[in-house]
Amino acid sequence: MSIRTLDDLLAEGVSGRRVLVRADLNVPLDKQTGAITDDGRIRAVLPTLGALVEAGAKVVVCSHLGRPKGAPDPQFSLGPVAGRLGELLGAPVHFATDTVGDSARSTVADLADGQVALLENLRFNAGETSKDEAERGAFADQLAAFGDAYVDDAFGAVHRKHASVYDVPARLPHVAGRLVLREVEVLSKLTGDPERPYVVVLGGSKVSDKLAVIEALLPTVDRLLIGGGMCFTFLKAQGLEVGTSLLEKDMVETCRNLLERSNGKILLPVDVVVADAFAPDAAHDTVRVDGIPSHRLGLDVGPETVAGFSAALSQAKTIFWNGPMGVFEMPAFAAGTRGIAEAITKADAFSVVGGGDSAAAVRALGLDESSFGHISTGGGASLEYLEGKALPGIAALEN
Ligand code: 3PG
Ligand code: MG
Repeated sequence: MSIRTLDDLLAEGVSGRRVLVRADLNVPLDKQTGAITDDGRIRAVLPTLGALVEAGAKVVVCSHLGRPKGAPDPQFSLGPVAGRLGELLGAPVHFATDTVGDSARSTVADLADGQVALLENLRFNAGETSKDEAERGAFADQLAAFGDAYVDDAFGAVHRKHASVYDVPARLPHVAGRLVLREVEVLSKLTGDPERPYVVVLGGSKVSDKLAVIEALLPTVDRLLIGGGMCFTFLKAQGLEVGTSLLEKDMVETCRNLLERSNGKILLPVDVVVADAFAPDAAHDTVRVDGIPSHRLGLDVGPETVAGFSAALSQAKTIFWNGPMGVFEMPAFAAGTRGIAEAITKADAFSVVGGGDSAAAVRALGLDESSFGHISTGGGASLEYLEGKALPGIAALEN
Protein backbone atom coordinates (compact mmCIF):
# COMPACT_ATOMS: atom_id res chain seq x y z
CA MET A 1 0.00 0.00 0.00
CA SER A 2 1.37 3.36 -1.00
CA ILE A 3 -0.28 5.52 1.60
CA ARG A 4 1.53 8.43 3.16
CA THR A 5 1.08 8.73 6.88
CA LEU A 6 0.80 11.39 9.53
CA ASP A 7 4.47 10.85 10.35
CA ASP A 8 5.39 11.75 6.77
CA LEU A 9 3.41 14.95 7.09
CA LEU A 10 4.93 15.78 10.49
CA ALA A 11 8.39 15.19 9.05
CA GLU A 12 7.70 17.88 6.43
CA GLY A 13 6.83 20.25 9.23
CA VAL A 14 3.32 21.53 9.86
CA SER A 15 3.98 24.46 12.16
CA GLY A 16 1.74 27.33 11.12
CA ARG A 17 0.10 25.23 8.37
CA ARG A 18 -3.62 24.54 8.32
CA VAL A 19 -4.31 20.82 8.51
CA LEU A 20 -7.84 19.63 7.75
CA VAL A 21 -8.61 16.44 9.68
CA ARG A 22 -11.63 14.28 8.78
CA ALA A 23 -12.61 12.49 11.99
CA ASP A 24 -15.53 10.19 12.77
CA LEU A 25 -17.05 11.92 15.79
CA ASN A 26 -20.39 10.19 15.19
CA VAL A 27 -20.93 9.30 18.85
CA PRO A 28 -24.13 7.86 20.34
CA LEU A 29 -26.34 10.43 22.07
CA ASP A 30 -28.96 9.92 24.78
CA LYS A 31 -32.35 10.19 23.06
CA GLN A 32 -33.86 12.25 25.89
CA THR A 33 -31.04 14.51 27.02
CA GLY A 34 -28.80 14.60 23.94
CA ALA A 35 -25.80 13.82 26.17
CA ILE A 36 -22.90 11.82 24.70
CA THR A 37 -23.34 8.26 25.99
CA ASP A 38 -20.04 6.88 24.70
CA ASP A 39 -17.05 9.04 23.78
CA GLY A 40 -14.89 6.21 22.40
CA ARG A 41 -14.75 7.72 18.92
CA ILE A 42 -13.62 11.09 20.30
CA ARG A 43 -10.86 9.45 22.31
CA ALA A 44 -9.77 7.41 19.29
CA VAL A 45 -8.77 10.49 17.30
CA LEU A 46 -6.77 12.13 20.11
CA PRO A 47 -3.39 10.65 19.12
CA THR A 48 -3.61 12.27 15.68
CA LEU A 49 -4.94 15.60 16.96
CA GLY A 50 -2.44 15.69 19.82
CA ALA A 51 0.48 15.16 17.46
CA LEU A 52 -0.68 17.97 15.17
CA VAL A 53 -1.25 20.37 18.06
CA GLU A 54 2.17 19.61 19.46
CA ALA A 55 3.72 20.23 16.05
CA GLY A 56 2.11 23.68 15.94
CA ALA A 57 -0.43 23.05 13.17
CA LYS A 58 -3.66 24.97 12.86
CA VAL A 59 -5.97 22.00 13.17
CA VAL A 60 -9.35 22.11 11.45
CA VAL A 61 -11.45 19.07 12.39
CA CYS A 62 -14.57 18.03 10.49
CA SER A 63 -17.02 15.16 10.97
CA HIS A 64 -20.58 13.97 10.49
CA LEU A 65 -22.97 13.06 13.31
CA GLY A 66 -26.03 10.93 12.72
CA ARG A 67 -27.93 11.18 9.48
CA PRO A 68 -29.38 14.69 9.07
CA LYS A 69 -30.85 15.29 5.62
CA GLY A 70 -28.50 17.84 4.08
CA ALA A 71 -29.72 20.81 6.13
CA PRO A 72 -29.03 22.10 9.65
CA ASP A 73 -30.85 20.08 12.32
CA PRO A 74 -30.07 21.06 15.94
CA GLN A 75 -30.43 17.54 17.34
CA PHE A 76 -27.39 16.55 15.25
CA SER A 77 -25.19 19.51 16.16
CA LEU A 78 -21.55 18.75 16.89
CA GLY A 79 -21.58 21.48 19.56
CA PRO A 80 -21.58 19.03 22.50
CA VAL A 81 -18.81 17.04 20.82
CA ALA A 82 -16.67 20.19 20.59
CA GLY A 83 -17.03 20.60 24.34
CA ARG A 84 -16.06 17.01 25.08
CA LEU A 85 -13.16 17.12 22.61
CA GLY A 86 -11.86 20.23 24.35
CA GLU A 87 -12.00 18.53 27.74
CA LEU A 88 -10.11 15.51 26.43
CA LEU A 89 -7.50 17.63 24.63
CA GLY A 90 -7.14 19.91 27.63
CA ALA A 91 -7.50 22.97 25.41
CA PRO A 92 -10.49 24.85 24.04
CA VAL A 93 -11.91 23.75 20.71
CA HIS A 94 -13.14 26.63 18.56
CA PHE A 95 -16.53 25.60 17.26
CA ALA A 96 -17.86 26.86 13.93
CA THR A 97 -21.65 26.94 13.81
CA ASP A 98 -21.72 26.13 10.09
CA THR A 99 -19.72 23.88 7.77
CA VAL A 100 -18.30 26.19 5.10
CA GLY A 101 -20.08 29.50 5.81
CA ASP A 102 -19.09 32.73 7.55
CA SER A 103 -18.62 31.11 10.95
CA ALA A 104 -16.37 28.40 9.54
CA ARG A 105 -14.33 30.90 7.52
CA SER A 106 -13.69 33.24 10.42
CA THR A 107 -13.07 30.42 12.91
CA VAL A 108 -10.41 28.94 10.65
CA ALA A 109 -8.89 32.34 9.84
CA ASP A 110 -8.59 33.17 13.56
CA LEU A 111 -6.77 29.97 14.55
CA ALA A 112 -3.35 30.40 16.09
CA ASP A 113 -0.62 27.78 15.74
CA GLY A 114 -1.42 24.70 17.82
CA GLN A 115 -5.11 25.57 18.12
CA VAL A 116 -8.03 23.35 17.15
CA ALA A 117 -11.30 24.19 15.41
CA LEU A 118 -14.29 21.92 14.80
CA LEU A 119 -16.70 22.60 11.95
CA GLU A 120 -20.43 21.93 12.34
CA ASN A 121 -21.86 18.61 11.09
CA LEU A 122 -20.78 18.03 7.48
CA ARG A 123 -24.13 16.43 6.67
CA PHE A 124 -25.85 19.78 7.27
CA ASN A 125 -24.66 20.42 3.72
CA ALA A 126 -26.27 18.34 0.95
CA GLY A 127 -22.97 18.27 -0.94
CA GLU A 128 -21.38 15.96 1.63
CA THR A 129 -23.33 12.82 0.77
CA SER A 130 -24.54 13.72 -2.72
CA LYS A 131 -24.38 11.07 -5.44
CA ASP A 132 -23.80 13.89 -7.89
CA GLU A 133 -20.07 14.33 -8.47
CA ALA A 134 -20.38 18.02 -9.25
CA GLU A 135 -22.43 18.79 -6.14
CA ARG A 136 -19.99 16.81 -3.97
CA GLY A 137 -17.07 18.42 -5.73
CA ALA A 138 -18.37 21.94 -5.11
CA PHE A 139 -18.63 21.21 -1.38
CA ALA A 140 -15.22 19.54 -1.40
CA ASP A 141 -13.72 22.69 -2.99
CA GLN A 142 -15.05 24.79 -0.11
CA LEU A 143 -13.80 22.36 2.52
CA ALA A 144 -10.40 21.97 0.90
CA ALA A 145 -9.98 25.76 1.09
CA PHE A 146 -9.65 25.35 4.88
CA GLY A 147 -6.52 23.20 4.69
CA ASP A 148 -3.02 23.14 3.30
CA ALA A 149 -3.00 19.39 3.93
CA TYR A 150 -5.60 16.71 4.67
CA VAL A 151 -5.50 13.91 7.23
CA ASP A 152 -8.07 11.13 7.13
CA ASP A 153 -8.58 9.70 10.59
CA ALA A 154 -12.25 8.81 10.15
CA PHE A 155 -11.98 5.05 9.92
CA GLY A 156 -15.70 4.63 10.64
CA ALA A 157 -16.52 6.55 7.46
CA VAL A 158 -13.92 5.21 4.98
CA HIS A 159 -16.62 3.10 3.30
CA ARG A 160 -18.57 6.24 2.38
CA LYS A 161 -18.00 7.96 -0.96
CA HIS A 162 -18.64 11.35 0.60
CA ALA A 163 -17.11 14.74 -0.17
CA SER A 164 -14.99 14.96 2.99
CA VAL A 165 -13.84 11.35 2.66
CA TYR A 166 -13.38 10.88 -1.06
CA ASP A 167 -13.25 14.23 -2.87
CA VAL A 168 -11.25 16.43 -0.50
CA PRO A 169 -8.13 14.20 -0.59
CA ALA A 170 -8.14 14.60 -4.39
CA ARG A 171 -7.70 18.33 -3.79
CA LEU A 172 -5.04 18.47 -1.06
CA PRO A 173 -1.83 16.68 -0.10
CA HIS A 174 -3.25 13.80 1.94
CA VAL A 175 -2.15 11.28 4.56
CA ALA A 176 -3.68 8.62 6.79
CA GLY A 177 -3.98 9.46 10.48
CA ARG A 178 -2.90 7.21 13.34
CA LEU A 179 -6.35 5.68 13.85
CA VAL A 180 -6.90 4.80 10.21
CA LEU A 181 -3.44 3.21 10.04
CA ARG A 182 -3.95 1.14 13.17
CA GLU A 183 -7.39 -0.06 12.06
CA VAL A 184 -6.14 -1.13 8.65
CA GLU A 185 -3.12 -2.83 10.18
CA VAL A 186 -5.27 -4.86 12.58
CA LEU A 187 -8.05 -5.76 10.12
CA SER A 188 -5.52 -6.83 7.50
CA LYS A 189 -4.42 -9.53 9.94
CA LEU A 190 -7.92 -10.99 9.72
CA THR A 191 -8.08 -10.95 5.93
CA GLY A 192 -4.51 -12.17 5.57
CA ASP A 193 -3.65 -15.43 7.28
CA PRO A 194 -5.47 -15.52 10.63
CA GLU A 195 -4.29 -18.00 13.22
CA ARG A 196 -6.82 -20.84 13.53
CA PRO A 197 -9.39 -21.65 14.68
CA TYR A 198 -10.83 -18.36 13.41
CA VAL A 199 -14.25 -17.77 14.98
CA VAL A 200 -16.58 -14.94 14.01
CA VAL A 201 -19.55 -13.84 16.11
CA LEU A 202 -22.23 -11.82 14.36
CA GLY A 203 -25.25 -10.18 15.96
CA GLY A 204 -27.31 -7.07 15.47
CA SER A 205 -30.74 -6.72 14.05
CA LYS A 206 -30.61 -7.17 10.30
CA VAL A 207 -29.47 -10.14 8.24
CA SER A 208 -29.62 -8.01 5.09
CA ASP A 209 -26.85 -5.76 6.53
CA LYS A 210 -24.63 -8.76 7.20
CA LEU A 211 -25.31 -10.88 4.14
CA ALA A 212 -22.28 -9.79 2.15
CA VAL A 213 -19.92 -10.30 5.05
CA ILE A 214 -21.37 -13.74 5.82
CA GLU A 215 -20.85 -14.73 2.18
CA ALA A 216 -17.30 -13.43 2.25
CA LEU A 217 -16.43 -15.01 5.59
CA LEU A 218 -17.94 -18.48 5.13
CA PRO A 219 -15.03 -19.91 3.14
CA THR A 220 -12.48 -18.33 5.50
CA VAL A 221 -13.76 -18.92 9.01
CA ASP A 222 -13.82 -22.11 11.05
CA ARG A 223 -16.97 -21.17 12.91
CA LEU A 224 -19.62 -18.50 12.50
CA LEU A 225 -21.79 -17.88 15.58
CA ILE A 226 -25.01 -16.00 14.91
CA GLY A 227 -27.08 -14.25 17.58
CA GLY A 228 -28.94 -10.95 17.91
CA GLY A 229 -32.15 -10.03 16.13
CA MET A 230 -30.89 -11.53 12.89
CA CYS A 231 -30.81 -15.07 14.30
CA PHE A 232 -34.59 -15.36 14.04
CA THR A 233 -34.54 -15.24 10.26
CA PHE A 234 -32.04 -18.12 10.35
CA LEU A 235 -34.18 -20.04 12.86
CA LYS A 236 -37.19 -19.54 10.59
CA ALA A 237 -35.09 -20.89 7.73
CA GLN A 238 -34.63 -24.05 9.80
CA GLY A 239 -38.40 -24.41 9.90
CA LEU A 240 -38.90 -23.04 13.43
CA GLU A 241 -41.61 -20.62 14.52
CA VAL A 242 -40.24 -17.35 15.89
CA GLY A 243 -43.35 -15.69 17.33
CA THR A 244 -43.30 -11.92 16.93
CA SER A 245 -39.49 -11.75 16.88
CA LEU A 246 -37.67 -9.63 14.33
CA LEU A 247 -37.99 -11.44 11.01
CA GLU A 248 -36.87 -10.52 7.53
CA LYS A 249 -39.27 -12.65 5.51
CA ASP A 250 -37.59 -12.00 2.19
CA MET A 251 -34.28 -13.24 3.61
CA VAL A 252 -35.51 -16.64 4.82
CA GLU A 253 -34.67 -18.39 1.56
CA THR A 254 -31.22 -16.78 1.47
CA CYS A 255 -30.56 -17.91 5.03
CA ARG A 256 -31.66 -21.45 4.20
CA ASN A 257 -29.25 -21.45 1.31
CA LEU A 258 -26.40 -20.14 3.49
CA LEU A 259 -27.08 -22.82 6.11
CA GLU A 260 -26.98 -25.52 3.42
CA ARG A 261 -23.66 -24.29 2.08
CA SER A 262 -22.05 -23.65 5.46
CA ASN A 263 -20.68 -27.17 6.07
CA GLY A 264 -21.88 -26.96 9.65
CA LYS A 265 -19.74 -23.88 10.31
CA ILE A 266 -22.77 -21.77 11.29
CA LEU A 267 -23.90 -22.14 14.90
CA LEU A 268 -27.33 -20.81 15.85
CA PRO A 269 -28.89 -20.25 19.29
CA VAL A 270 -30.49 -23.25 21.00
CA ASP A 271 -32.40 -21.14 23.54
CA VAL A 272 -33.61 -17.54 23.63
CA VAL A 273 -35.11 -15.06 26.09
CA VAL A 274 -38.64 -14.22 24.93
CA ALA A 275 -40.72 -11.29 26.19
CA ASP A 276 -44.27 -10.01 25.92
CA ALA A 277 -43.11 -6.69 24.49
CA PHE A 278 -40.06 -4.69 23.45
CA ALA A 279 -39.74 -2.96 26.81
CA PRO A 280 -37.24 -3.00 29.69
CA ASP A 281 -39.85 -4.23 32.18
CA ALA A 282 -41.66 -6.72 29.92
CA ALA A 283 -42.41 -10.16 31.38
CA HIS A 284 -39.89 -12.65 29.97
CA ASP A 285 -38.73 -16.27 30.07
CA THR A 286 -36.05 -18.44 28.55
CA VAL A 287 -37.32 -21.04 26.08
CA ARG A 288 -35.85 -23.57 23.65
CA VAL A 289 -35.79 -22.30 20.09
CA ASP A 290 -38.41 -24.89 19.08
CA GLY A 291 -40.77 -23.56 21.73
CA ILE A 292 -41.08 -19.81 21.00
CA PRO A 293 -44.71 -18.87 21.79
CA SER A 294 -46.55 -17.24 18.88
CA HIS A 295 -47.32 -14.02 20.80
CA ARG A 296 -43.82 -13.37 22.22
CA LEU A 297 -40.60 -12.00 20.78
CA GLY A 298 -36.99 -12.98 21.35
CA LEU A 299 -34.81 -10.21 22.80
CA ASP A 300 -31.66 -12.10 23.81
CA VAL A 301 -29.92 -15.44 23.43
CA GLY A 302 -30.28 -17.84 26.35
CA PRO A 303 -27.72 -19.31 28.79
CA GLU A 304 -27.30 -22.61 26.93
CA THR A 305 -26.51 -20.68 23.78
CA VAL A 306 -23.97 -18.59 25.68
CA ALA A 307 -22.39 -21.81 26.97
CA GLY A 308 -22.24 -23.35 23.50
CA PHE A 309 -20.87 -20.20 21.84
CA SER A 310 -18.38 -19.78 24.70
CA ALA A 311 -17.09 -23.30 24.17
CA ALA A 312 -16.43 -22.52 20.50
CA LEU A 313 -14.77 -19.23 21.44
CA SER A 314 -12.53 -20.89 24.05
CA GLN A 315 -10.86 -22.91 21.24
CA ALA A 316 -10.31 -19.90 19.01
CA LYS A 317 -6.97 -18.28 18.18
CA THR A 318 -8.55 -15.44 16.22
CA ILE A 319 -11.93 -13.84 16.95
CA PHE A 320 -13.95 -11.13 15.22
CA TRP A 321 -17.14 -9.94 16.87
CA ASN A 322 -19.69 -7.56 15.39
CA GLY A 323 -23.16 -6.90 16.76
CA PRO A 324 -24.80 -7.42 20.14
CA MET A 325 -26.49 -10.74 20.97
CA GLY A 326 -29.62 -9.07 22.36
CA VAL A 327 -31.07 -5.76 23.50
CA PHE A 328 -28.14 -5.12 25.85
CA GLU A 329 -29.35 -1.59 26.62
CA MET A 330 -32.11 -3.23 28.71
CA PRO A 331 -30.60 -5.10 31.68
CA ALA A 332 -33.13 -7.95 31.38
CA PHE A 333 -31.80 -8.71 27.89
CA ALA A 334 -28.09 -8.01 28.36
CA ALA A 335 -26.86 -11.38 29.64
CA GLY A 336 -26.26 -12.86 26.19
CA THR A 337 -24.07 -9.99 25.00
CA ARG A 338 -22.24 -9.89 28.32
CA GLY A 339 -21.66 -13.65 28.28
CA ILE A 340 -20.24 -13.63 24.76
CA ALA A 341 -18.08 -10.59 25.48
CA GLU A 342 -16.68 -12.30 28.58
CA ALA A 343 -15.99 -15.50 26.66
CA ILE A 344 -14.06 -13.47 24.10
CA THR A 345 -11.92 -11.82 26.78
CA LYS A 346 -11.16 -15.22 28.35
CA ALA A 347 -10.12 -16.89 25.10
CA ASP A 348 -6.42 -17.13 24.40
CA ALA A 349 -6.98 -15.45 21.07
CA PHE A 350 -6.34 -12.29 19.08
CA SER A 351 -9.75 -10.62 19.30
CA VAL A 352 -11.21 -7.74 17.33
CA VAL A 353 -14.47 -6.05 18.20
CA GLY A 354 -15.97 -4.26 15.22
CA GLY A 355 -18.79 -1.80 15.18
CA GLY A 356 -19.99 1.18 17.12
CA ASP A 357 -22.70 -0.83 18.89
CA SER A 358 -20.49 -3.70 19.99
CA ALA A 359 -17.78 -1.30 21.11
CA ALA A 360 -20.35 0.73 23.04
CA ALA A 361 -21.71 -2.52 24.53
CA VAL A 362 -18.24 -3.44 25.78
CA ARG A 363 -17.98 -0.12 27.60
CA ALA A 364 -21.62 0.09 28.71
CA LEU A 365 -21.34 -3.36 30.31
CA GLY A 366 -18.25 -2.20 32.17
CA LEU A 367 -15.91 -4.70 30.52
CA ASP A 368 -12.21 -4.04 30.43
CA GLU A 369 -11.41 -2.69 26.97
CA SER A 370 -7.79 -3.74 27.28
CA SER A 371 -8.74 -7.41 27.44
CA PHE A 372 -9.68 -7.24 23.76
CA GLY A 373 -6.99 -7.20 21.10
CA HIS A 374 -8.55 -4.29 19.25
CA ILE A 375 -11.82 -2.39 19.41
CA SER A 376 -12.59 -0.98 16.00
CA THR A 377 -14.29 2.39 15.67
CA GLY A 378 -15.86 1.24 12.41
CA GLY A 379 -19.04 -0.79 12.07
CA GLY A 380 -19.95 -0.79 8.40
CA ALA A 381 -16.36 0.13 7.56
CA SER A 382 -14.85 -2.89 9.33
CA LEU A 383 -17.43 -5.23 7.77
CA GLU A 384 -16.78 -3.88 4.29
CA TYR A 385 -13.05 -4.19 4.87
CA LEU A 386 -13.50 -7.87 5.80
CA GLU A 387 -15.70 -8.37 2.73
CA GLY A 388 -12.68 -7.32 0.70
CA LYS A 389 -14.47 -4.35 -0.82
CA ALA A 390 -12.51 -1.33 -2.04
CA LEU A 391 -13.11 1.44 0.48
CA PRO A 392 -13.45 4.90 -1.12
CA GLY A 393 -11.69 6.66 1.75
CA ILE A 394 -8.69 4.34 1.59
CA ALA A 395 -8.57 4.38 -2.21
CA ALA A 396 -8.52 8.18 -2.12
CA LEU A 397 -5.44 8.11 0.12
CA GLU A 398 -3.64 5.69 -2.18
CA ASN A 399 -3.74 8.06 -5.15
C1 3PG B 1 -20.94 4.76 11.66
O1 3PG B 1 -21.53 5.11 12.67
O2 3PG B 1 -20.94 3.59 11.26
C2 3PG B 1 -20.13 5.77 10.91
O3 3PG B 1 -20.00 6.94 11.63
C3 3PG B 1 -20.75 6.01 9.55
O4 3PG B 1 -22.03 6.55 9.69
P1 3PG B 1 -23.10 6.30 8.56
O5 3PG B 1 -23.43 4.82 8.59
O6 3PG B 1 -24.28 7.16 8.90
O7 3PG B 1 -22.48 6.67 7.24
MG1 MG C 1 -23.37 2.90 11.11
